[in-house]
Amino acid sequence: MDSADIKLISIPCNAPGVRVALLDTEPLARRELETLRARYLSDGEQVEWATLTHPARQIEWLAARVCLKQMLVRDGLLTDPRLCELRKDSRGRPWLASADGGRLSALDVSISHQGHWACACVAVGADARVGVDIETISPRLLNVAEMFVTERDWPPLTSGPEKGVTILWTLKEAASKAIGLGIGVDLSNVICRALGRDRHEVRVDAHRALLTGWHFPYDELIIAVTLMLHGPDARGVSSVQHTCL
Ligand SMILES: CC(C)(COP(=O)(O)OP(=O)(O)OC[C@H]1O[C@@H](n2cnc3c(N)ncnc32)[C@H](O)[C@@H]1OP(=O)(O)O)[C@@H](O)C(=O)NCCC(=O)NCCS
Repeated sequence: MDSADIKLISIPCNAPGVRVALLDTEPLARRELETLRARYLSDGEQVEWATLTHPARQIEWLAARVCLKQMLVRDGLLTDPRLCELRKDSRGRPWLASADGGRLSALDVSISHQGHWACACVAVGADARVGVDIETISPRLLNVAEMFVTERDWPPLTSGPEKGVTILWTLKEAASKAIGLGIGVDLSNVICRALGRDRHEVRVDAHRALLTGWHFPYDELIIAVTLMLHGPDARGVSSVQHTCL
């Protein structure tokens, strides 16, 4: 299998400097996943992969990294996928390191997986922070909606409660990932306000963060991307109205 055989699905996100792609692992046989492991993982990632014991976890973990690296190769931001690796900060937020351990500081990344789907998002620009989340539209989230939907979210659940609640969930999760909070964040304090058909303002007042979010339906999924700046310089994302408060 050649890297050209990897069929990424590009998600049309018009956030400046942001690219989003999906990878469907369903068509990939186990044998092909082994080939991908050899082609895409750094030595350090190979070691980490070997610590994963559950087959489904191995596949989602690998697929998200393949999706991310193949998108970077496709867009001319990376030549050899084995020469960079995804590392995590102390809260679990991923970042890209080069083979020599240095940070690829002009690229910010986020990944998500759900079922047979893997999703990766990259923002080009030293001051951008992105978060991405994917979720299947289903009644499941309605059962826990009171934990994260509030009257401060606007508009109230439109376009069918299952779809609306999934949009809110993914936006809030994506914001939590952009900020890098991990499981400590209370999603009822992440407030979403629609700015258009697929664009949102996302506020996390407790962390003085104001982000712009987008959601995209694809197949049975909702994909949400949030973008924020940190630092005073808004190069590359200056046309988006967001900032740190
Ligand atoms: C950490 C969290 C964002 C992971 O999301 P998830 O829906 O379980 O899983 P996803 O597949 O979408 O995302 C997993 C990826 O998130 C990334 N991630 C983990 N911690 C992160 C953090 N602190 N910041 C940013 N990204 C993080 C990892 O890269 C992980 O992939 P990997 O393990 O293959 O490296 C989520 O569990 C979370 O903490 N959410 C906020 C709190 C919350 O949901 N509370 C529920 C009550 S309302």
